[in-house]
Amino acid sequence: RGFGTNADGAGDANDKRMAENETEETLTNRQGQPVKDNQNIRTVGNRGPSTLENYDFLEKMSHFDRERIPERVVHGRGAGAHGYFESYGKIGDEPISNYTRAKVFTNTEAKTPVFVRFSTVIHGTHSPETLRDPRGFAVKFYTEDGNWDLVGNNLKIFFIRDAIKFPDMVHAFKPDPLTNVQDMERFFDFIASSPESTHMITFLFSPWGIPANYRQMQGSGVNTYKWVNAEGKAVLVKYHWEPLQGIQNLSQKEADDIQSQNFNHATEDLYKAIEDGNYPEWELHVQIMEDGEHKELDFDPLDDTKLWYRDEFPWYKVGKMTLNKNPQNYFAEVEQAAFGTGVLVDGLDFSDDKMLQGRTFSYSDTQRYRVGANYLQLPINAPKKRVATNQRDGQMAYHVDTPPSHDPHINYEPSLLGSLKEADRTNRKFHEPEISGKLVRESIDRPNNFGQAGETWRRFNDWEREDLILNLSGALADAHESIQQTMIKHCTEADPEYGKRLEEGIKNHIASTKDKHDEGVEKSREMGQSSDPY
Ligand code: HEM
Repeated sequence: RGFGTNADGAGDANDKRMAENETEETLTNRQGQPVKDNQNIRTVGNRGPSTLENYDFLEKMSHFDRERIPERVVHGRGAGAHGYFESYGKIGDEPISNYTRAKVFTNTEAKTPVFVRFSTVIHGTHSPETLRDPRGFAVKFYTEDGNWDLVGNNLKIFFIRDAIKFPDMVHAFKPDPLTNVQDMERFFDFIASSPESTHMITFLFSPWGIPANYRQMQGSGVNTYKWVNAEGKAVLVKYHWEPLQGIQNLSQKEADDIQSQNFNHATEDLYKAIEDGNYPEWELHVQIMEDGEHKELDFDPLDDTKLWYRDEFPWYKVGKMTLNKNPQNYFAEVEQAAFGTGVLVDGLDFSDDKMLQGRTFSYSDTQRYRVGANYLQLPINAPKKRVATNQRDGQMAYHVDTPPSHDPHINYEPSLLGSLKEADRTNRKFHEPEISGKLVRESIDRPNNFGQAGETWRRFNDWEREDLILNLSGALADAHESIQQTMIKHCTEADPEYGKRLEEGIKNHIASTKDKHDEGVEKSREMGQSSDPY
């Protein structure tokens, strides 16, 4: 074997041998060559021009030129932390294994490692963390059965229920393609044209719309999944995280005050709490419904614009998550982390929710582009258990996913020469639901777009309703009249009082903004009279 090679013939990154003119501190380039001058490029005379063979300069600069990977198309701004999850092993008084055979829940001895990424949704990587925007709450469980990702938000419902609408929704919410400024008129144009979003808007513009930080925020899987037990029997399930630090939200005024001083407050808060040993914890709750369409309900249990009310579908505590370690490298761990709704383990399954299936395609598709074809080989995304596949090569393939004991010639299956084998399925009962029907493009039968929005309005306290009207009417004040009228109509359908108060709110807001505007014009005239010193 040659100098510095290991068994696969590749250089060993841990090889500590040094060149003659090198010490422990010596800067090298990526080829391991000691760098002799990191201050001056090579030039003809010390004023230049420079020459093209400046290898160290060209390598340094071309790597720098590629330091950024595409930002997530949504949820660009985030903060992450490591920790662990412990299952209580029970659902009410029953063993949890009656409902799921997933070891992350049935094994109460396990401390399953987790990585969590919290995020805001609409604006980019360095945008303020004080915006009225849902927050992402994505958890990767490195379980003994392989990885499970629970990709949720802080609010329990969503704007839309069909995945084909997601790109349009995000376009409307993101900055205008011409001005590059977010525009509430575009935002509400989409919302008014998508009545199913009335419920989500009712939460987003209420005091629940700006979480105070990531530690005191709830989380929810939003979409409906399934649990499968050892008999192959399934139930529908929804997941919710409750912070043991308590829940806290910001008023618009508080958010504005923080934003004027600091637009990293949530990232700082999480990082500092963990550094101080003040480890945040969340309890995981589930709601269960028998598998099926539930025609007796006035909504579809797969519709993610709907709550399953607690009084009818109780919340069961099933485990606890503790975050106790900050990332050592933000880029490697937080930026390159890749979560997806398809990442499930045995005992956890998809429901028929068409929105969930759309999401499941989108996550790994975007990650192959954003991070690269071999994103699952990165330590943050790889399971903390054995991986043995026949997938090979592609950009940035870092190693082969099979154990060294395996014959490296056989990267296919089946084979008579000794390939990897499928897992044993004897005595395994699979959940095999019967599905039949016409292939159609249609909306669901029980859209009930306004019922729960009205119920939420009525369940809010007085001050919550007041805050909602203030925020919503303020955001709608500059929108085209047709958008205002449609929003008033939808809120009236939810609850006549809701619509009436929104209509009054918009009128009052427009009147008071006009006064402020006139005052502002006068002030700016005064400023214009003072001479510009530059
Ligand atoms: C991130 C698509 C709905 C929660 C993302 C990303 C995409 C995406 C493409 C970027 C992923 C990456 O670059 O790694 C979609 C589509 C949806 C949808 C197509 C609807 C059809 C939802 C819903 C939730 C949600 C309903 C909440 C339950 C998240 C979270 C992230 C995310 C938390 C950030 C994950 C991270 O921290 O890396 N989504 N999404 N999304 N989405 Fe969705």
